[in-house]
Amino acid sequence: MIAYDDMSLFSAIAVLGGTGQQGRGLAQRLAMAGERIIVGSRDAERARAAIARWSSHAAAIDAADNVTAVTRADVAILAVPYPSVDALLAELAPHFKPDTLVIDVTVPVTFEGGKMSIIDVAEGSAAQHIRTRLPSHVRLAGTFKTIPAHLVGDVERALDCDEFVCGDSDGARSQASALVQLLPGLRAVDVGALSRAESVEHLTALAIAINRRHKIHDARFRVVGLR
Ligand SMILES: NC(=O)c1ccc[n+]([C@@H]2O[C@H](COP(=O)([O-])OP(=O)(O)OC[C@H]3O[C@@H](n4cnc5c(N)ncnc54)[C@H](OP(=O)(O)O)[C@@H]3O)[C@@H](O)[C@H]2O)c1
Repeated sequence: MIAYDDMSLFSAIAVLGGTGQQGRGLAQRLAMAGERIIVGSRDAERARAAIARWSSHAAAIDAADNVTAVTRADVAILAVPYPSVDALLAELAPHFKPDTLVIDVTVPVTFEGGKMSIIDVAEGSAAQHIRTRLPSHVRLAGTFKTIPAHLVGDVERALDCDEFVCGDSDGARSQASALVQLLPGLRAVDVGALSRAESVEHLTALAIAINRRHKIHDARFRVVGLR
């Protein structure tokens, strides 16, 4: 059994698309770490139904539609498929609280016909694209992009790897790194500016390719040489 610290770092964390594969594990693990979580969905009832299926940790998790979730949060984790971010952010943009930290976990890949392809993003990366769709009073970090959802969702398992963190400011990277390190066994590696997201997103595509080639499911990354 993993021992979680119960000191909360943030007032409330909205997990947008928290009903999905990556969002549900993040929501549960962050709740277990003592954070107040609001699972956002296009449909609040779907978020409520998802939470009800989770373990006893669900008691500390609220449900809301995505707009209501961001109006209540100081951190918003964007955990929806990349092709849906433009429409979702257009809807959410007027509702972010000033100085909200948005955490982008998206990876611009598709799996059409069972084949993985990287979506061409004019700005260079999903994170940089998302930056252009957010109000200037909101800060942005990109992380949780390379860790596989099924591992995050296995909430009693220590993750035993690194997670890269990039962001549009020192403050965004530092707060996002603190969030990453709430997950037992996950070490945050600050890789600098948001433009580094392009490399990180390509690393995720590489991990998916490694999984397929070696018939495994758990490929992820560890940086050696760091102190
Ligand atoms: N799966 C992984 O291993 C993994 C790893 C690292 C990063 N990521 C990234 O994390 C993000 C989420 O991945 P996922 O696998 O969790 O995806 P997912 O399960 O397919 O979808 C996540 C949630 O997004 C919402 N959603 C779906 N279509 C939407 C739309 N058109 N507009 C608004 N919301 C929509 C849905 O919530 P509601 O229906 O409740 O609204 C859904 O439950 C992706 O960008 C992915 O690249 C995934």
